[in-house]
Amino acid sequence: TTYSEPFRGQFHFSSQSGWMNDPNGLVYANGEYHFFYQHNPHGLAWDTMHWGHATSTDLVHWTQKPIAMEPGVQPGTLFSGGGVVDRDNTSGLKTDSLDPIVVFSNTDGVSVYYSNDNGQSFQAYDKGRKVVTVPDGVTSRDPKVTWDAARHRWVMVFWSDEGGNGVSVYTSTNLTDWTFASRYHAPWLFECPDLFPLPLDGDTSRQKWILTTASSQYVVGDFDGTTFTTDQSTPQTMVNGDFYAAETFTDTPDGATVQMGWQRGNQGSTWTGDASFPVDLGLVSTPDGPRITRTPVSSLASLATSPQTWTNEKVTASGNLLSGVQADTYEITAQFDVKNTTAKQFGFDLHARSDGSADRTVLYDTAAQTLYGHPLKPRNGKVTMRLLVDRGQLEIFADDGLYSVADTVNFDSSADSQGIRLYTTGGSVKLTTATFTRLNTSWG
Ligand code: FRU
Repeated sequence: TTYSEPFRGQFHFSSQSGWMNDPNGLVYANGEYHFFYQHNPHGLAWDTMHWGHATSTDLVHWTQKPIAMEPGVQPGTLFSGGGVVDRDNTSGLKTDSLDPIVVFSNTDGVSVYYSNDNGQSFQAYDKGRKVVTVPDGVTSRDPKVTWDAARHRWVMVFWSDEGGNGVSVYTSTNLTDWTFASRYHAPWLFECPDLFPLPLDGDTSRQKWILTTASSQYVVGDFDGTTFTTDQSTPQTMVNGDFYAAETFTDTPDGATVQMGWQRGNQGSTWTGDASFPVDLGLVSTPDGPRITRTPVSSLASLATSPQTWTNEKVTASGNLLSGVQADTYEITAQFDVKNTTAKQFGFDLHARSDGSADRTVLYDTAAQTLYGHPLKPRNGKVTMRLLVDRGQLEIFADDGLYSVADTVNFDSSADSQGIRLYTTGGSVKLTTATFTRLNTSWG
């Protein structure tokens, strides 16, 4: 494929062909980011879960690799799981000069699989024997492992229904012998948990731990090496829209916590499902407590061409500052001063046509204080939004990353559907600054 089909993401990863769901085994190893994923190579629907594989040096340009794990070849049910690089050979599984990639999968217990050829082929550890078992009748899946630097050991979380929805925590010094540590119960915990540390307000001496789940709900707390605790009684939602089963990369070169999720809605002629654009996660103090921020990784800029900027303009219902722009895949950043606005709504029509129609509308509602239907309060009298527009996906970031939306939109990329309208309803608003940037394809 040339990745040029209708609705095919140009700067979002999708499987070259077949079905994709959850990101798996996200790890930076041997100089590359590895993106494995739940994959059915035989059709466009969920079935016969394999682990697909792609690599990248910058999180933006991806190279499709052969299938990494295949049911029947690797033992076990190859459902979702995490991965680590065993640089210090704590597992003793290293046989080559490359650092081993060790991944975790299977259901109703956990099996270990490892690769000494940078993810091209995987062996099952001890014939796929479950290194963690669960009681009969208990359903469990989705093990995720990270390095606990303070305790110098690995920590695993997985979802199970033992005694109700919750996460089991295990620890290990060698990735193959695991010791039960604790269980954390919450009704909202279901599938694909992730547990990782983040510095609060960038201060590494104030580290918090985040427990998150498939639907991107999360709580911020502490982890003492055994038990996760939090004083947050209700989880927050990290991302609204079509976003599920995200994982964070382990062992990134700069220590960044990079997250990618699954967007299920997009189906083309040869593939189904996309990855969300990778983001750097941060943690900031707010009056309501610590909250996650999401910021698209900076290497997106490598696709950017010919930025156009507008400053201090009045936006009205009828004018359109962007009337000269025609674009297929792009990014818009815009800041509006809402202190004296008379507009009821302001924002953008995306992939607009001359007959007045558009494929998607992104408006800020000044009375409801919502952007695209989701709460967004002005900050210092300003509303700032960043839109990433790809052929099958729309992602919106605002409020310094505290607000994020991932959506599936089948944008029409034909030449007469590439307009952008910047407009208001019910009055005018001051545009402080806006930048439009065309984004080139990341494929090929
Ligand atoms: C989440 C999920 C996981 C499971 C995988 C199977 O989307 O249901 O819990 O491991 O998909 O493909």
